[in-house]
Amino acid sequence: MCGIVGYVGAQSALDVVMGGLRRLEYRGYDSAGVALVADGALFTEKRAGKLSNLSKVLSEDTAPPSTLGIGHTRWATHGAATDRNAHPHLGARGRVALVHNGIIENFAQLRGQLEAAGHELRSETDTEVVSHLLEAELDAGADLTTAMQRVCKQLDGAFTLVAVASDDPERVVAARRNSPLVIGLGADETFLASDVAAFIEHTRDAVELGQDQVVTITRSEFDITDFAGNPAEGKRFHVDWDIAAAEKAGYDYFMLKEIAEQPEAIANTLLGRSATGGRLQLDEMRLSDDELRAVDKIIIIACGTAFHAGLVAKYAIEHWTRIPCEVELASEFRYRDPVVDRDTMVIAISQSGETMDTLMALRHARDQRAKVLAISNTNGSTIPRESDAVLYTHAGIEIAVASTKAFLTQIVACHLIALYLAQVRGTMFGDEIGAIVDELEQMPAAVTKVLATIEPVRALARELRDAPAVLFLGRHVGYPVALEGALKLKELAYMQAEGFAAGELKHGPIALVEQGVPVFVVVPPQGRGQLHEKMVSNIQEVRARGARTIVLAEEGDDAVTPYADELVRLPSVPTLLQPLVATVPLQVFACEMATAKGHDIDQPRNLAKSVTVE
Ligand code: M6R
Repeated sequence: MCGIVGYVGAQSALDVVMGGLRRLEYRGYDSAGVALVADGALFTEKRAGKLSNLSKVLSEDTAPPSTLGIGHTRWATHGAATDRNAHPHLGARGRVALVHNGIIENFAQLRGQLEAAGHELRSETDTEVVSHLLEAELDAGADLTTAMQRVCKQLDGAFTLVAVASDDPERVVAARRNSPLVIGLGADETFLASDVAAFIEHTRDAVELGQDQVVTITRSEFDITDFAGNPAEGKRFHVDWDIAAAEKAGYDYFMLKEIAEQPEAIANTLLGRSATGGRLQLDEMRLSDDELRAVDKIIIIACGTAFHAGLVAKYAIEHWTRIPCEVELASEFRYRDPVVDRDTMVIAISQSGETMDTLMALRHARDQRAKVLAISNTNGSTIPRESDAVLYTHAGIEIAVASTKAFLTQIVACHLIALYLAQVRGTMFGDEIGAIVDELEQMPAAVTKVLATIEPVRALARELRDAPAVLFLGRHVGYPVALEGALKLKELAYMQAEGFAAGELKHGPIALVEQGVPVFVVVPPQGRGQLHEKMVSNIQEVRARGARTIVLAEEGDDAVTPYADELVRLPSVPTLLQPLVATVPLQVFACEMATAKGHDIDQPRNLAKSVTVE
C-alpha cells in the first residue's frame, strides 16, 4: 500500500529515488511522483498510472541536479488515481513536499479547519491536509523536524510520512505510526523507505523505526525522537539478502521466478529447526513450555493466500496436537467479539508482516491477553515485532503481488509449529515428529518434480483462454488448495473462478456446471480411502453434467483416469503435505492464463502487495 523513498547524499537524488520506487512499485502502482530540493526551491513531478508514465515525463523534463529528494508510488485510498491526487503533495505556498502511506482518519475534520482558515486544498486525498499543516508550522517558525512532531500529534490513523522543505537542503524528515519505515545507512548518504528493497543496491545496513517516532536524516546522520521530541531509538539490523534477490534473474516476471524458487524457499524455511537432541526450535520464542502446555484453543488469523495456508494448518494442528483450532479472516476477527483468553494461542500469518487487518486482529487478541505467534516472511516487520513468538518463513523477498512461495512456506511453518506444540505437550512421540520432519525435507524435491513436468498445464491454460469461468474442487486439505487456485485465477486472469469443498457441490454450486466448464479437482492421496472414493464420485458427478475435468492426482492413482479429461500427476506424498505439491500447477495455470490474456503478471489491476489499510 504505497511505497515511499527518501534520500540525501552525494548521488543524483532523482536516480536513487526512481531506482527505489522501481523496487517498491509492487506496493502500489496507481500513480507515482517525486520531489527534489534544488537551489532553494522544490521541483516536483507526478503522474497517474505506473511508474513508467512518470519516467517518461521525467526524461522529457529537465529535473534540476539535486542530492536530496523523496518519491512515492501509490495505491489509492482517498481520491481516484489521477495526476492531481498523486503524491507528493505540497503545502499552501509550495514550501513543503510530502509523501504518505496509510490513512489519516481525522482528515475531514482537519481539512474543515484548514479550509475555514483560508487554505485551498487541491486534491481529494487525506494526505494534503498534512502538507498544509506542516507548512503552517514552518511558517510559524518551527524547523521541519519540530513541525513533523507537532503535526503527528494531531493525526489519527496509520501513516508513514516523509517530507522535505524548499529552504532546507540538508535534511529529510519522516514519521511513522502503524505503517512501515526503515532507514538505510550508506557511506555519506542516508535513505528512507517503506522496505529495504528500495535501497538494497546501495546499503544493507538498516534501522527500523519504532511506533510513533520521527526521524531526521542528513547525509551522515540520523536522529530519532518520539512525537513529543524526546530522544528515541530504532532497531539496527543487517539485511541478509542482496540485490540479486530483488531482480528477475532472467525470468519475464517475478511471479515465474518466485514459483521456481519454491523448492529452495521450503528448504530454507526448514533449515536449522532441529536443536540438539532432535528437538524442534522456533526463531524467537518468548513463550514458556508451561504457557504452551496451557493453550486450550488456537485461532489462526490471516488474509487472502495466508488465510488459505491457515486453513491447511487447521488439519495438521488438530490432528497432531488435539487442540481445537479455528481459522478466521483477520478482517472479521475483532468485530465479532471472539472468545479469547490467556489460554488461547492466536497464530497471525502474514508474508509482509504489515497487513493492517491482521495487525489489528493481533492487537485485539493481545488486548484479550491471548498469546500471539507470528508467521512472517519479513524480518522485523510490525506483526512479528508485536507478537510473543515468531517463526520466519525464509522464502526470500516476494515481489509479485500474487503470493506463491510465501504460501508454500507458510504451510511448512504452520506444520513446524504444530509439531513443536506436539513436542512440548507430548501428544506425539519424538520419532513420529522426526518422521514428519523427514517427510517435510523431501518436499523441495517433490516440488521440483512438479515444476519439471508442468508444461502441459501451461498449454492447457492457453487452450482455455476464453473459458468464461473455472471451478476448483477439493476435500480436506485439498479444499484450501481449491480456494487458493481460484484466488490466483481471479487476481491474475480477472476470471470468474470459485473454489468449493467437493462435498458441498451438491448443495448448490453444482448448478454452475454446464457443458465445457473447466473443473479442477484436487484428489486426495489413495491412502485416504474414504476421502479418495468420495472424490472419484464427485468427479463423475460434474463430468456427467458436461464439465471438462482437470484432475490433479498422485502417481499411480488409476481410479481417476477414466473420468479425467486432463490428468495432472502429483508426486505421492502424505495427505497433510499434499497442498505443497498440488498448489503449484494451479499457480502456473493462473500465471499462464494471465499471460495469454495479456495481463500484467506482477502487478494485477487494483491490487497491491502489502495491504496496510483496513
Ligand atoms: O502479506 P500478507 O501475507 O499478510 O498478505 C495477505 C494477502 O493480502 C495476500 O496473501 C494476498 O491475498 C495475495 N495477493 C494473494 O496472492
